[in-house]
Amino acid sequence: MSNSQTQSRRPLVAGNWKLHKTLGEARELVAALIAELADGALDAAGPEVVVAPVFTALSSVRDALRGSPITHAAQDLHWEATGAFTGEVSAPLLLDLDCAYVIVGHSERRQFFGDSDEAVRKKAAAALQAGLPPIICVGESLEQRQAGDTETHVLGQLRAALEGLDPEALARVVIAYEPIWAIGTGHSASPEDAQAVHAAIRAAVAADHGQALASGMRLLYGGSVKPDNAATLMAQPDIDGALVGGASLDANSFAAIVRAAAIRE
Ligand code: PGA
Repeated sequence: MSNSQTQSRRPLVAGNWKLHKTLGEARELVAALIAELADGALDAAGPEVVVAPVFTALSSVRDALRGSPITHAAQDLHWEATGAFTGEVSAPLLLDLDCAYVIVGHSERRQFFGDSDEAVRKKAAAALQAGLPPIICVGESLEQRQAGDTETHVLGQLRAALEGLDPEALARVVIAYEPIWAIGTGHSASPEDAQAVHAAIRAAVAADHGQALASGMRLLYGGSVKPDNAATLMAQPDIDGALVGGASLDANSFAAIVRAAAIRE
């Protein structure tokens, strides 16, 4: 353990596959990942590892992961459980597929599909109400960072997403800080800059919901996490794991990031 602050927080490494991988490719990636991590990195004391394939591959990935401690997650959901909502998928359906988490408010959803702060709040609340923990994404644009608005923006998104949740629900929330300018660009935030935002997020959760809840909440960093920067990012006291895009599409590089999280402990 690097310090007392991290003691109760098990690292979490989540792979966001986005719109990639056919069923066959998804099965292959899972098999390769299990083989890569057969060296003990996945024992009970190690990091929690999750992969988030496209909706259509969830069932196959679940079957391919059977017997492995790796779990699967969905990349989004709708807040209504059932009804006339063509094209949508709901929390009960994701639980039906044994999903362990659902990603909510990814910047690509916000940017390309119009997910507002209000939509993110409703999605997170619906997931929690159904018993599915959300990984809620927040993060600033390059313009916001350059204007010195990073904290205002990120904490605004955070507070909007957590509004109205009771403490029991909040205890199951995972936050992913993903600066938009770092996603898919190869330029991750520096460990110091990422740590500063993570510390601000934890302080805001402590101010709003109490220190105990804030100390237990897992805060992931996302945005160009790679095998060569994962260890230094996750060595920061308030960075409890990673949400990985591009590097999660390759078993070798994702496994290296998982190992970096194991060292953190
Ligand atoms: P990246 O994506 O690792 O490819 O930058 C991260 C994410 O969008 O979650």
